[in-house]
Amino acid sequence: MRRLVRETRPRPDQLVLPAFVGESAAEISAMPGVRRHTVEQIGDVARAARDAGVGGLMLFGVPDEADKDPRGSQAWAADGILQRGIAACRQAVGDELVIMSDVCLDEFTTHGHCGVLAEDGRVLGDETCELYAQQAISQARAGAHVVAPSGMMDGQVRIIREGLDAAGFAEVGILAYSAKYASAFYGPFREAVGSSLEGDRRTYQQDPANRREGLREALLDLAEGADMVMVKPASHYLDVLADVAAVAQVPVAAYQVSGEYSMIEAAAEKGWINRRAAIEESVTGIVRAGADVVLTYWALEVAQWLD
Ligand code: PBG
Repeated sequence: MRRLVRETRPRPDQLVLPAFVGESAAEISAMPGVRRHTVEQIGDVARAARDAGVGGLMLFGVPDEADKDPRGSQAWAADGILQRGIAACRQAVGDELVIMSDVCLDEFTTHGHCGVLAEDGRVLGDETCELYAQQAISQARAGAHVVAPSGMMDGQVRIIREGLDAAGFAEVGILAYSAKYASAFYGPFREAVGSSLEGDRRTYQQDPANRREGLREALLDLAEGADMVMVKPASHYLDVLADVAAVAQVPVAAYQVSGEYSMIEAAAEKGWINRRAAIEESVTGIVRAGADVVLTYWALEVAQWLD
């Protein structure tokens, strides 16, 4: 009877696997089971995702420390780590998996902020958006199907759209991180990408206390031409996700972030919760709240369970 009347059943093809590509491979101690891959290895990750029936891959680049600078210029270098990773994935899977790439400067800047800084240390939104457009174009050139601006600068979607179109990439889509909150749950990710950040991102990411503002951010991105909008983190923002899903006429994504992953892994390792049941419940809850697409570090495993 429960099977008959079940309302929500996540599908493998709505899952997206976030993956890290760097100059060297590494374990990520705060995310057991997640690794940073080399360019040589990342094609195998893409093949594994395709074979598991997963819908897409979200790539993050991790440059060497020596390649960082205050402007994050490796972010739009034709031979940057992320560009090489994108190309390797496209070569491995062609069009059989949607290859998405992170558009943001934080992995590439010496100060670790998502944009360029004024002399007094403030993040300069408009100047940063121009660099995002360059970065997005270079990712499209490398073969990204979808670019995903995660920096939360006002106007980023419109400027990236205009840049892509002018460069001949009208068919490359934009998945906008629209309602991205200044969250404590990004901690393990910052280890994964070797973040240089000191301080916080509260001048550009949203206040966790604000629900209406999350919806407003999504509506702005839709008006600017976003092809998909995202709410992030997922589990603690299901109300925002449901609000956005109620009005968006594009697919809505949710990102089950690193801290959401690590908490369940840690509790399961201690024997305090049933790992598989907790993972399935968390992903089901995100889909139930309205996500059409779920970014999760468990994408491969969940896809196999669902199969
Ligand atoms: C920034 C970015 C972050 C994440 C994705 N993109 C970190 C941040 O905003 O500090 C977090 C993802 C996760 O925690 O899994 N480019």
